[in-house]
Amino acid sequence: KAPTRIFSGIQPSGGLTLGNYLGALKRFAAFQGTGPQTIYCVVDLHAITVWQDPARLTQQTREAAAAFLAAGVDPARSILFNQSQVPAHAELAWLFNTVARLGWMYRMTQFKDKSGKNSENVSLGLLAYPSLMAADILAYHADAVPVGDDQKQHLELTRDIAAKFNHDYGVDFFPEVQPLIEGPATRVMSLRDGAKKMSKSDPSDASRINLTDDADAISQKIRKARTDAEPLPGSMDGLKDRPEARNLVNIYAALADEGPDAVLARFEGQGFGAFKPALADLAAATLSPITARMSEYMADPAEIDRILGEGADRADALAQPILARTKEIMGL
Ligand code: ADP
Ligand code: NA
Repeated sequence: KAPTRIFSGIQPSGGLTLGNYLGALKRFAAFQGTGPQTIYCVVDLHAITVWQDPARLTQQTREAAAAFLAAGVDPARSILFNQSQVPAHAELAWLFNTVARLGWMYRMTQFKDKSGKNSENVSLGLLAYPSLMAADILAYHADAVPVGDDQKQHLELTRDIAAKFNHDYGVDFFPEVQPLIEGPATRVMSLRDGAKKMSKSDPSDASRINLTDDADAISQKIRKARTDAEPLPGSMDGLKDRPEARNLVNIYAALADEGPDAVLARFEGQGFGAFKPALADLAAATLSPITARMSEYMADPAEIDRILGEGADRADALAQPILARTKEIMGL
């Protein structure tokens, strides 16, 4: 069924990466004008589930908004806002905290990864994160969510919360949400560890490509990326046991808007000595206009705040009646 309303968000938890661009931002922009209404959010309430320095958080929120805008999210065609400015998110999340089960939360792999061995000393919010994410989406009755592969499990929980709410209260109120996890870059991996995803929330990984990197930095990081000495095969079937190579080809394909097999058809028989510079050129050519637009927006923080404020008003107008009806259903 064709989506009618798309929602997605990005945490202002650090500098955005190439993974955030290819897995999220680029796709957010592409959904505009395809039919469904598009609603995009800087999710600062999610970011504070781990410690954020207040002044830095304000800066990172503007920077994330600048990245949305620079990547082509157009406030005339989409609603773009900051989560904490629309109270319905936190309020609906509380209601969902009474619907969701504790065991569902403990099973989330992101919670296990982020809490590590220290799971008694993380914030309660980190555990309840998926409940807030369900509220983000369902406060708008959004029915489709473009995300990277890492968010798949959380989206299943959104579906579980919606279904349990509808069942417990005997209503057919919250829609079934479809994850839109598509394309060659649903999980861009770290350039130094093919088993870990590239993440802005992992400051220890200096190999990650940031949206603010210049062409030199990008080229150095790609040159240093872990690979092997084998030539490239003619199709992705030949890369089954070569995760690092697969990652670089997928990145190339996503940047070029091509299938990975089409990319390999051109590079068949060549080694990384040829492939890496080509990838670095393509990445720099794609990112440099985005980086430039980001710094233009960042030079005018008042304009970013104005755009976010206007977006928050529009988001609030959509969410309020849905929140009011939810409370009514619950007898509140
Ligand atoms: P991060 O994990 O980098 O802190 P977020 O949790 O804010 O990023 O996620 C923002 C969006 O970017 C989500 O849709 C997420 O699935 C996507 N995303 C994050 N990292 C990657 C990646 N390495 N590859 C593809 N998509 C990603
Ligand atoms: Na994430």
